[in-house]
Amino acid sequence: MRAILLGPPGAGKGTHAVGLSEHYNIPHISTGDLFRENVGKGTPLGLEAKAYMDKGELVPDELVIRLVKDRLSKDDIKNGFLLDGFPRTTAQAEALWDFCEENGIPIDYAIDLEAPYELIEKRITGRRSCPKCGKIYNVFFQPPQVEGHCDIDGAELTQRADDNVETIKNRYRVYEEETAPLIDFYRKKGILKSFDSTKDIDEMQKEMFETLV
Ligand code: AP5
Ligand code: MG
Repeated sequence: MRAILLGPPGAGKGTHAVGLSEHYNIPHISTGDLFRENVGKGTPLGLEAKAYMDKGELVPDELVIRLVKDRLSKDDIKNGFLLDGFPRTTAQAEALWDFCEENGIPIDYAIDLEAPYELIEKRITGRRSCPKCGKIYNVFFQPPQVEGHCDIDGAELTQRADDNVETIKNRYRVYEEETAPLIDFYRKKGILKSFDSTKDIDEMQKEMFETLV
């Protein structure tokens, strides 16, 4: 399966990407995670991206498109892929569509996760993640068994630099202006599948496995 995950910040893209990539045995490619990795290592790409990410703005299209094309040129996408957080602008969506067509790897689904702003703010302010294995928690909705520590490897959980109310508001505004129009883009392509992301994670996952075949 070749699919992309669409949806506002905090809709659950990263959360569902884990289950989907396991179930369909495909790599999970998150542009946000790739940028955070580069920020952590202090690479030139990371330094450039950080300035945008800290403000909740989008990293310029050329940089992101290059990053994704490079990633999709690796061998491990033969069985499919799951893009999380890309595309986010019409220019990115068009570049991806053309690249996939040219390379004989057409996208099967655009998975759209829908959730209102109030819920998103609570989800993002409560999010914590494991720096070692990447597992995502939530102090309100999915707390770890031992406060502040990962259930899997015991590492101390961290909070993302851009997970503060001010930046969340801007990320949501940017989503509505730049990314929400892609729902229509993919509807017109005939590959849109929308899910109500206010539902429980397990219930949503079941619906996804039944729908995405
Ligand atoms: P990115 O990392 O993609 O962040 P985002 O889009 O803001 O989305 P999030 O990761 O915050 O939310 P999510 O939908 O993954 O939610 P999650 O599953 O974690 O991008 C960060 C930045 O990088 C951007 O602002 C931009 O600067 C740059 N960037 C990245 N890609 C780019 C691109 N293509 N172009 C330009 N710039 C780019 O869930 C959130 C919380 O809610 C968790 O705690 C989770 O446990 C909880 N939760 C999830 N689902 C449920 C549920 N159903 N019930 C209860 N709790 C739930
Ligand atoms: Mg995410």
